[in-house]
Amino acid sequence: MSIGYINGKYISLDETVIPIDERGHQFGDGVYEVIRFYAGQPFMLDEHIERLINSSYAIKLPITDDLDSFRKLIMEAVQKAGISDCNVYIQITRGIATRNHLFPNVPVSITMTVRPAKTIDKDERAKGVFAITRDDERWANCYIKSLNLLPNILAKQEAEDQGCFEAILLKEGFVTEGTSSNVYVVKDGKVYTTPLSKQILPGITRMAVKQIAEKLEISFIEQHVSQEELMEADEVFVTSTTAEILPVVKINKCAVGNGIPGEITTTLYEEFCRTIENQK
Ligand code: PDD
Repeated sequence: MSIGYINGKYISLDETVIPIDERGHQFGDGVYEVIRFYAGQPFMLDEHIERLINSSYAIKLPITDDLDSFRKLIMEAVQKAGISDCNVYIQITRGIATRNHLFPNVPVSITMTVRPAKTIDKDERAKGVFAITRDDERWANCYIKSLNLLPNILAKQEAEDQGCFEAILLKEGFVTEGTSSNVYVVKDGKVYTTPLSKQILPGITRMAVKQIAEKLEISFIEQHVSQEELMEADEVFVTSTTAEILPVVKINKCAVGNGIPGEITTTLYEEFCRTIENQK
């Protein structure tokens, strides 16, 4: 059963619990993570928690939890929900205090939801998805998984309205990432992706793909990819906790390579699935 959690209390998801002066919804003053569980086992849980802690430090949230206590909290919530294939959304905000831009001296708020994982339809995955490109209009600190997602949701909705899964964001003619995914280009059997910097989220799935590519001896090159290189790629794929490794077969209505999911993308995805099977 899907459940919610707020500051030590489990609730049902339709309960009204957020006070008006909660800084998450007034200022977007907080950070979050999305974590996938397969057959009751979390995928790269410690890496997600470490990123959550890093995001919290980056915006000066006075968190008191550490890796162990977050791990306990998340595992307990999933056990309580009793859903073995689920997504955990965990959010930390600067708490509840009369609206004022300055930091209040109050404890942070931690909320969570546990819901059944929404998987991408098998046929859709087999065919590949479409994308558009858009200017990256976000701020300078996209390595922080912050609640402020307005440019992301506007671009993602534009993609959806055009029958596409994702908007690939471009800064000064180079790919940064997707609105909710990291982006990769395959050319002559080698995988290229944007190097980590303050301009992109250090994806946990990206970390897994890098490890898999190294294991399979596929070149994984962290190098800026131009719009031209994107459009002339043999293969393009995106990754995220929810989409896993997903082939992109059309960008701005132009076919990528020969318009079907490519060999390298498929090989990486198959090995990704084996990694998950092995951890069950
Ligand atoms: N989004 N880049 C952005 C901007 C993201 O929002 C995400 C994930 C990723 C991929 O990160 P990871 O592999 O760690 O999930 C890259 C999550 C799933 C979301 O906002 O729902």
